[in-house]
Amino acid sequence: MFDPKPFIRTVPDWPKAGVQFRDITTLLSDPKVFRQLIDAFVHQYFDVEFDAVVGIDARGFILGAPIAYELNKAFIPVRKKGKLPFDTYEESYELEYGSAEVQIHADALAPGQKVLVIDDLIATGGTLEAACKLVTRSGAQIVDCAAIIDLPDLGGSRRMRELGHSVFALCEYE
Ligand code: PRP
Ligand code: ADE
Repeated sequence: MFDPKPFIRTVPDWPKAGVQFRDITTLLSDPKVFRQLIDAFVHQYFDVEFDAVVGIDARGFILGAPIAYELNKAFIPVRKKGKLPFDTYEESYELEYGSAEVQIHADALAPGQKVLVIDDLIATGGTLEAACKLVTRSGAQIVDCAAIIDLPDLGGSRRMRELGHSVFALCEYE
């Protein structure tokens, strides 16, 4: 399995004191490594039956779109509030360093569709949980939640599993 850790840059005290920011831009900037990253997810989900990849704004888009393209699935964006032009469902959530709201187009997913939800990183899990609530509210089913990085000490992946979701991450940081 591809290990992304050697290519992830840690920036201390950003965006505020005490946060160890895990910067994936250094993972994306080498074309061979970027391909290995996308291929790792494609390999993981190649034999799984589902209809759409739901990517979370903004770093989840960088992963979700090429994975959906490669696996011949739809790509559905979950966006920060105020960016989607049509009727939306909305959820608010807390971040490691603030709070935010996310939306999905109300007609983006059809009831019964199966989706993979993807983001770059799971910290408190607030963002992922909000995205999953939007998917569920759309009537769709979540087959898996995926990320490059899990920060298990912040409890997000544990909470998602307690809520009944399965979670896959390529690496962890204490
Ligand atoms: C970051 C990251 C995840 C979220 C994880 O996004 O990309 O979406 O935080 O934190 P959580 O598990 O505590 O919710 P951010 O809101 O910083 O947005 P960005 O992708 O636009 O940089
Ligand atoms: N989003 C929430 N916490 C983060 C962290 N420590 N690094 C990068 N993105 C994040």
